[in-house]
Formats: sequence, C-alpha cells, structure tokens
Amino acid sequence: MAENRIYIFDTTLRDGEQVPGCKLNTEQKIEIAHQLEALGVDIIEAGFPISSPGDFKSVEAISRAVKNATVCGLSRAVSKDIETAAAALKYAIRPRIHTGIGTSEMHIKFKLKSTQEAILERSVAAVKLAKSFVEDVEFYAEDAGRTDNEYLARVLEAVIKAGATVLNIPDTTGYCLPEEYGAKIRYLKENVKGIHKAILSTHCHNDLGLATANSIAGIQNGARQIECTINGIGERAGNTSLEEVVMIMRQHPDLAFETGIKTPMIYQTSRLVSERMGMPVQPNKAIVGANAFAHSSGIHQDGVIKKRETYEIINPLDVGVDHSKIVLTARSGRAAVAYRAKNIGYNLTKDQLDKVYAQFLEVADSKKEVDDSDLNHIMAQQKIGVLST
Ligand code: KIV
Ligand code: ZN
Repeated sequence: MAENRIYIFDTTLRDGEQVPGCKLNTEQKIEIAHQLEALGVDIIEAGFPISSPGDFKSVEAISRAVKNATVCGLSRAVSKDIETAAAALKYAIRPRIHTGIGTSEMHIKFKLKSTQEAILERSVAAVKLAKSFVEDVEFYAEDAGRTDNEYLARVLEAVIKAGATVLNIPDTTGYCLPEEYGAKIRYLKENVKGIHKAILSTHCHNDLGLATANSIAGIQNGARQIECTINGIGERAGNTSLEEVVMIMRQHPDLAFETGIKTPMIYQTSRLVSERMGMPVQPNKAIVGANAFAHSSGIHQDGVIKKRETYEIINPLDVGVDHSKIVLTARSGRAAVAYRAKNIGYNLTKDQLDKVYAQFLEVADSKKEVDDSDLNHIMAQQKIGVLST
C-alpha cells in the first residue's frame, strides 16, 4: 500500500452509537454497515460485543454481512471481553479485535486504581490473548492525549512485541491542541522500537472543536489511520467527522494523502445515519449541513452566479449534493432574484426586474425565505408570463 494511503476506520456504530438516545436495531446497523462498505471505509468498528447481548448479535450479524472491509469489535483489557469480541467476530472475513486500557496518570490512579507497571502488564496480556484469536489486533491507550509520552512509548513498544498491528492514540477527552497532538505522534514514530511493524491511528474527540484539526496533525506527523464517524457523532461533543477529514485530504492535494472513500456517496450516507439514528445534522455543519452549499447574502450570491468557485471551495457534486442553493432573503440582491426567476421560467427585462425586486423586498421583509411559489405570485401580480423577454 502506498506510503501516503490513509486508512479510514469508521466508528459510527460503536463510539457514534454511544450517544444518548441513539439506539439502532440490528437491521439498521446492518444497513449502515453496507452503506459504509459501499462508501469505501477500510475498517468498520461494529460495536462492543461484551456490552449487551444485542450488541453481540449486531457485531456477529455485521461480520456475516460485510465482505470487503475489516470488521472490528471493541473490548477492554479484560479476558472475558476479548473472548466475547472474538466470538462475535467469528464469521468476519477480516476480523480485528480492538483492545486497550487507560494509560494517563488520571486514568491509572483514579479510574483503574493501579500502577504504570501493572497497566503495562495488562496491556501486553490483553494483546497476547486477542492475538490468539485473530491476526489483526489494535491496541488503544485510552486518554493517550494526556499520557506522558515516555510511558506511552514504553507501553506501545511492549504491545508491538506482543503482536499489536495497529496502535490507537486516542485524545479521549478532546484536550490536545493540534501541534501538541501532532508532536505526540511524531515522538512515538521516532522513539518506539519496532514502530515500523504497526500503524499509528488517530482517535480524536471534539470537546474543544479540535477533533478534525488534531486528526490531520496526526497524519501529517506519521499516523496512517484516522478513526472517525459520519456527521461527527460520538460521546459528548462527538468524534472526528469522516466527511471533514476526507474532504480536507481531497481538497488539499498538496498534503499528498489518499483514501479509498467514494466522496459522491458522502451526502447520502450522512442522511441515512441521521435518519436511522434520529440525530439531526446542524444546518451549518461542514460538508453535509443543509447550508453547506447555500448562499443567502447578496454579495455572495452575485459572485456564485457569476462563478461558483468565488464562494465555494468544494463542488457539491463531489460530495453527492445536486447543486448549490441561492436562498432568497431580504439580504438578496437583484442578481439572485433574476437567477431564481430564470430557474422557474421567467426571463426578466431590466424594467421587469426593477418592479419584481421592489415587490420581492416587501415579501422578503415579512418572511424569512422567499420560495418559488412566492416568486410565481409576484410574477402574476406584475403580469409577467413564463418565458417573457
Ligand atoms: O475515546 C476513546 O478513548 C475510545 C477508546 C475506547 C478507543 O473510544
Ligand atoms: Zn472515543
């Protein structure tokens, strides 16, 4: 695989599904897994099999259904978890067990009530046990973002020796700054013996709105897998959003990264996940929000009508959105009104446009958005017929 190929690990069905009120049934999870596979995701984290019989059943069903992508199951560094994950992944063509434990002082002292040495031993034992079931074992160092780099490097060195193939460096609490997170990945790349045998992975949460920036800093410093979710859903403020990192790499060829994602399927995937999970997407969400390709101010509309690229850096078709939207509001100018009128069949002369625009402003002041039926009504009142010149 090319040196600059970035693996996309989607955790919509695991970290994404942990969101309150976001329960999916097995059929819905299979439907989403099929969509993720068609989208070109490399690894699908299907669930956390020990967490409930329902989750076990879903991971097992997804393992049977998915043919090309790797199917991954989460576990803690606990034997029963690992054995259960292995059982749920039994039918997967490409199974991966994702196991790990907290490595920060905060987690070791207060959550695990343990010591650094004991955690290192548990990490190695967990990876060895997972390795007895599957070849592909990913280790996560929970709260790696706040873990001392020197200790983190020691743990990673030990789990590589035990057989880990992928090393996940989660910024579990979304605390890191991009430079800090990037430097952590660089440190690990340069200081962990045997690192060439494993892939470093980013897993960034969005508590400070930095998940996407941190993931990109991670790959710029040597990580080759990004863990992310559709629409950025996930614990608390969410995870890195798949559509954002993928489109950053696509729109910046200067970064020279590649993914296997078929970007024109992004929008339909976002809609499917939002509808099945009952989680609306905020209108101003990058790439997939309802307003991501909508223009409402007169200055912007004038530019976009003359040349789309004046105010759009992404062609909407590249993410599966049909066209940019010119939204008519009281901030719209004549160019936008003429453009929208033309779209519904009215070719206005300058005089006609003056009259229509004056009436449009009255309507726009009383309504948030002027739609095609309002425009038709204005044309009727101004006695302008379709295809008039
Ligand atoms: O955020 C996190 O640390 C996680 C791990 C379980 C991978 O989701
Ligand atoms: Zn997470």
